[in-house]
Amino acid sequence: METVLIKHLGKHVDQEVQIQGWLFNKRSSGKIRFIIVRDGSGQVQGVLAKQETDPELFELAGEVTQESSIRVKGIVREEPRAPSGYELTVTGLEIVNGSEDYPITLKKHGVDFLADRRHLWIRGPRQASILRIRSEIEQAIRDFFYQRDFILADSPIITALAAEGTTNLFEIDYHGEKAYLAQTGQLYSEATAMALGRVYNFGPVFRAEKSKTRRHLLEFWMAEAEMAYCDFEENLKVQEELIHYIIQRVLKNNWLELKNLKRDVSKLEAVTLPFPRLSYTEAVEMLQKSGEEFRWGDDFGAPQETILSGRYDSPVFIHRFPAEIKAFYMKPDPGDPKVVLGADLLAPEGYGEIIGGGQRIDELELLEQRIKEHKLPEEEFQWYLDLRRYGSVPHSGFGLGIERTVAWICGIEHIREAIPFPRMLYRIRP
Ligand code: 4AD
Ligand code: MG
Repeated sequence: METVLIKHLGKHVDQEVQIQGWLFNKRSSGKIRFIIVRDGSGQVQGVLAKQETDPELFELAGEVTQESSIRVKGIVREEPRAPSGYELTVTGLEIVNGSEDYPITLKKHGVDFLADRRHLWIRGPRQASILRIRSEIEQAIRDFFYQRDFILADSPIITALAAEGTTNLFEIDYHGEKAYLAQTGQLYSEATAMALGRVYNFGPVFRAEKSKTRRHLLEFWMAEAEMAYCDFEENLKVQEELIHYIIQRVLKNNWLELKNLKRDVSKLEAVTLPFPRLSYTEAVEMLQKSGEEFRWGDDFGAPQETILSGRYDSPVFIHRFPAEIKAFYMKPDPGDPKVVLGADLLAPEGYGEIIGGGQRIDELELLEQRIKEHKLPEEEFQWYLDLRRYGSVPHSGFGLGIERTVAWICGIEHIREAIPFPRMLYRIRP
């Protein structure tokens, strides 16, 4: 008998198969018992009718407890009322190991109670659906870049320089030397782009955020692309195509997870290319017209982002920000040097900024000047300046925040559910 994943049961209709997993829940209505089994790939209901089932097996199905590990044999049936479309007529049940007094029962629990038990909480169907979608998104990102001849060039996690400002750095002791956990891999990807052309890095980054919001983690994952000989416009095009590709992949491969999450998929289907583009200056005018007290030069907060993105079905690019509110490496717009060739991509439905990126300064003198203006330690940036000393080229890139993207696509309230083990202000365990 073949052992199969629950997600593949549809390929085995009317056959007897074995699944290996855990008991999620059970129900009984006297003559009929239901065991709901999960195996990580999905869940399925097993049915045992008293009259047609071996008495010992029927008894065992009544005794098995929540989250016991079990092997179940059964015949696959089509069942239109089941979420996945299939059900199992149980012919065998083996308890691999028991589970007594599982702490997360099927009634509602508070968020702190669940967060303290995150190692178990992730077994629930909602959390497992989110994590499967996260996996699909990460795979889609890798496939997208691979298909377009990007080279994966991993950037270091321990670094001697602060690339995104000094306010939220995690400092570590590197055998007596001061070092930091990386806030971004970008500066290193600029180096690998000069070596390999088009590159991306994909890994965890760290920001000692002091604010507790539903969009901020202290450790999050970023996919960062960097492209030699790429200007501002082409950079935007790559970003919108990446996001569109991710959405199509999830719609195709995770329809059941989206259904479990009760996600309104019409909102995702409405995302179409090209994405709207709005200059910072236009955005400020728009905000002022809508009654917001907002001055040119201010940075957007969550309320402003929600107003701006609320006007569109697709994510919207806000571009050409004032130089003062953006990172030191952003290239000034030749047509208007007060603003820089940077853009943020805001997700719809109030999910906020999912991508930050732009064209980089490629001239040595200007970059040296910016490093001074930002009071960054010049010695640490000499290697970075070398990229402008030896064959500098116009280049651009961006960083996509994975958890915000997952939160948006899944339609979930809080970013803490978008990563297996979130690191947040006041929470580092489990
Ligand atoms: O806008 P950010 O800070 O951009 C950079 O770090 C650039 N160096 C990227 C690049 O051009 N290569 O961060 C990029 C994205 C944001 O748009 C957001 O989605 C996410 O990272 N992000 C966070 N996600 C979760 N928690 C936080 N504290 C985040 N801070 C940024
Ligand atoms: Mg940003």
